[in-house]
Amino acid sequence: MEVTFRIRRLNPEDPAKSKPYWQNFTLTEVNGTDRVLELLHRIKWEQDGTLAFRRSCSHGICGSDAMRINGRNVLACKLLIRDVGEKVQVEPILGLPVEKDLIVDMEPFFDHYRSVMPFFVNDNPLPADGRERLQSPDDQAIISDSSNCILCACCTTACPSYWANGQYVGPAAIVQAHRFIFDTRDQAAEERIEKLAEPDGVWRCRTIYNCTPACPRGIEVTRAIGEVKLAIRKGSRDGIIDPKDIHVHS
Ligand code: FES
Repeated sequence: MEVTFRIRRLNPEDPAKSKPYWQNFTLTEVNGTDRVLELLHRIKWEQDGTLAFRRSCSHGICGSDAMRINGRNVLACKLLIRDVGEKVQVEPILGLPVEKDLIVDMEPFFDHYRSVMPFFVNDNPLPADGRERLQSPDDQAIISDSSNCILCACCTTACPSYWANGQYVGPAAIVQAHRFIFDTRDQAAEERIEKLAEPDGVWRCRTIYNCTPACPRGIEVTRAIGEVKLAIRKGSRDGIIDPKDIHVHS
């Protein structure tokens, strides 16, 4: 089949292309099972080598090829062209500065990520066998979903609250915080909760629900955010956060 791509482009280094503009490309001999990322490669290799986009694994793992395709945030490597149609509009994800074509500056996103202490904290000595801190399957299940985040930014850049206010920590950072706040072996939940209770923390979420369908890993992002909100409420009321009290099993 024949497919027409309409791609939003920008090249700050070229005065003639320093403002965003749309460019069309037509591809023939496209199969329905071709992935959008493969077709972007074809455009780059066959028609315009200056087209810029990020990609690495091509298998939905690295999270580097998040883009807005026909108005939805997706990973281009996971999207089959038969699920898009013959007209494909491709834009950079919203809410982050565009560096070139489909490439955005991810630093503001990673600044928010870093702000929630996305790492394991436990100052106790390791168990006697010195190998690992064991966790029960039930305790692991509490953080299983939020552990699947690949930091692609699909959720954060689908969020109207984030579009309106880039200081908002955003859904992905909250999911990362959730993964550690509810880890029964971790000891820094209170610090993360304190950070997320600030004005640009979790309460900027208006439960618009754009984030959950945007997640290519199927994470229940809105639920994770809701559980962090509950932890803040419960923590400020009782001074105690017990993950098992907060987590809602699906
Ligand atoms: S290229 Fe790695 S997730 Fe798509």
